[in-house]
Amino acid sequence: MGFILAAIGSAVGLGNIWRFSYLCYENGGGAFLIPYFTALFVVGIPLMILELGIGHRMRGSAPMAMATVNRRWEWLGWFAVLIVMYGIMLYYSTVIAWCLNYVFFSFNLAWGDDPNSYFFKEFLQMAEKPFDMGDVRMPILTSLAAIWFFSWLIVFFGIQKGVELANKIFMPLLLSLILILVFWSVSLEGAGKGIAVYLKPDFSKLGQRKIWIDAFSQIFFTLSLGFGIMIAYASYLPKKVDIVKDALIISLGNSAFSFIAGFAVFGTLGYMSHATNQPITEVVSETIGLAFVSYPKAISLMPAFSNVFGVVFFAMLVIAGLSSGISILEAFSSALIDKFGYNRGGVVTFVCITGLAGSVVFTTKSGLIWLDIADHFITHYGLMIIGILQCIVVAWIYKASKLRKHINSVAPPLLSSIWDTCVMYVTPLVLTALIVNDLITELKAPYGGYDLSGVLLIGPVWMVVILIASLFISNYPWKKELQDNHH
Ligand code: PHE
Repeated sequence: MGFILAAIGSAVGLGNIWRFSYLCYENGGGAFLIPYFTALFVVGIPLMILELGIGHRMRGSAPMAMATVNRRWEWLGWFAVLIVMYGIMLYYSTVIAWCLNYVFFSFNLAWGDDPNSYFFKEFLQMAEKPFDMGDVRMPILTSLAAIWFFSWLIVFFGIQKGVELANKIFMPLLLSLILILVFWSVSLEGAGKGIAVYLKPDFSKLGQRKIWIDAFSQIFFTLSLGFGIMIAYASYLPKKVDIVKDALIISLGNSAFSFIAGFAVFGTLGYMSHATNQPITEVVSETIGLAFVSYPKAISLMPAFSNVFGVVFFAMLVIAGLSSGISILEAFSSALIDKFGYNRGGVVTFVCITGLAGSVVFTTKSGLIWLDIADHFITHYGLMIIGILQCIVVAWIYKASKLRKHINSVAPPLLSSIWDTCVMYVTPLVLTALIVNDLITELKAPYGGYDLSGVLLIGPVWMVVILIASLFISNYPWKKELQDNHH
């Protein structure tokens, strides 16, 4: 139970509300759900079983699990935890910080009647180019420090007293908050119009490459796959455990959460279009800013208790984000502890201080640009490449059939050889095809129309630096004995 809650806590995060809803919006509402659910079944669930299975079998963090399969692949485990910790987590914690600021802004609806210029001009004071960083935005830095402090506190107390306990409180709270929001939103006048946009697929969009790539990378992001997190969490499971059932509960539960949250988001947008008497496409124009521009706009329009609605919405985002954030801190710290034998307190403190320091760049005036570029490259290439390589290491080198036998030996033997085919061929081939397609778009023009040098530095160069760090760390010996895998 503690494990399921913690795994769902990792999966359910800003990705389910903030990221899912803007991707959905950008990709033609309901049309996005088709590639999204395809990705869930073709890649999401098979990989979830693979990650939980190998973590359970090898009883260790991602680098340890990879090293136990084959010492030469240890770097892959490091690359996963490092790119998430010193990539995704740096901007992710900044978005949680924005949410925390917005909890307070909600009290007096501080964004006034132009939430768009409030968010971009007053709050972020956004620059135009990646290197026009200007100075750090103090209100963001302050809440960022609070977020890192709070995460440090939870992970410092370890798995049982920290991570599990926090999730036992956070998850029921999160579920209650989202249900309140959904009922509230769908009862607003005009909500139906927004929900129609959400559920009505626009099949013409399905021919676009972008929608498929966005859906597959969203599945990685939202299920925390390729993060090394699920591997680490599964290593704490008891000997006898039904991995297939747990993988299904986590994956389906996580997508159900996104799907339900979509009603709150689109219901509110529908209300807004009704209240302003404009079509939805007119009232919503932002992508990454959806939660911080369109939502506040809608909140201000509400007839009653609008500030309560705002506080609930942004507090929900903070909680969802924190429970995900602590999972990568745990996965990365436990890897360092296994590898070097340092004490937990010291490692967690080091990780949080360097994390806070690294996220400062996202609190500058070009922070949103950095976020956009880093998120694009890490989720589109980083996570998917990790996904492909994990299939190679586990399904080919360790052997899918061997892992399947293990999974079936500790629970009712439910997993059939279809899964082997999936993780050996289908998943890696589909992912490779997506990456190749994505690269074609990439090479035509620098991502997002930003300066090429900025795109290169924040995208590929950053990833290569992390790759080198991964190879470097792999060269050191293990403090904790690697288990023998020949049985
Ligand atoms: N699965 C998380 C989400 O959807 C992503 C995440 C996990 C980000 C852990 C950072 C750390 O929000």
